[in-house]
Amino acid sequence: MVLDKRIDGRTVLTGLIGNPVEHTVSPVIHNSLFLLMGINGVYLPLKTEETGLEAAVKGLAALGFVGFNVTIPYKEAICSLLDEVDEEVRLLGTANTVKILDGRLYGYNTDGKGFVTAFRKQTGADFAGKKVCILGAGGTARTLAIKVVQEGAGQVCIINRTVSKAVEIAGYINDTLRAGSGLREPVLSLAPDTKRTIEALNESDIIINTTSVGMYPDIGASPVDEGVDFASRPIVYDVIYNPARTRLLSMAHEKGCSIYNGAGMLFYQGIRAFEIWMDTLISDDVLQKLSTSFLKHLED
Ligand code: ATR
Repeated sequence: MVLDKRIDGRTVLTGLIGNPVEHTVSPVIHNSLFLLMGINGVYLPLKTEETGLEAAVKGLAALGFVGFNVTIPYKEAICSLLDEVDEEVRLLGTANTVKILDGRLYGYNTDGKGFVTAFRKQTGADFAGKKVCILGAGGTARTLAIKVVQEGAGQVCIINRTVSKAVEIAGYINDTLRAGSGLREPVLSLAPDTKRTIEALNESDIIINTTSVGMYPDIGASPVDEGVDFASRPIVYDVIYNPARTRLLSMAHEKGCSIYNGAGMLFYQGIRAFEIWMDTLISDDVLQKLSTSFLKHLED
């Protein structure tokens, strides 16, 4: 038989804590990166119960992990266990990446930058002066709304079933980021399917879906109703990547919009996390090779 010699006493250890982690595709990104870059390293999904979060984090540090990702539902809870956090974590209130150096835990959030990098590379567009509608008001919406404002958006609407959550995010941005931003008016919070909301969607330059509506297995569902006709031909970005084309993206595509799914965001948040752990910059050549294979893998 062929002996498997990939793991030995010098293997660099990384992983993902969260719950559930059964369907994560992050190991594909990171383990392929280790392989492509000739680094003896491994990335493991580590399902963690809430009661064991602190022990798990201390355990990873004690075991010499160089870093780990954090996913649902611990992106907020992890922050209180960190020794230092970067500016992005302070602003967003969540971390998805931890680097361990000499037993100290350093927190980062690569979701926002991952989204902006993916958006720029995939669409060739930017946010400066644009009218942006964000569907949803959970953790992802919060991150993306903040990034979009930082990137110079001119008008931002947050649309959510539970309007109070949209109001909270809009209020936070209006209080802390509006001064000096490109916003022409305060961030708006709206309920779905009202006349005003449909108007905002039909006049937008960019629509971003951060809700889970339309995600597998509920693939027939859409976060906007038929009254939305995408009259302004916006770029429609759905953070869902399974299915690759959600009902929302199909509706927008039929109306002639450019559509993008969340695979790019997932990819680039992972790339940035890897760069932080390994203290390196990944070359365009490696990125190109990996992204082509990764996107194909998601569609299979
Ligand atoms: P994430 O961290 O990915 O943002 P989250 O914080 O759980 O996840 O947020 C999920 C978002 O999807 C919320 O905006 C949620 O709306 P509510 O705030 O009203 O709960 C939205 N969402 C989930 N299921 C939904 C549904 N069936 N209809 C409309 N919105 C839904």
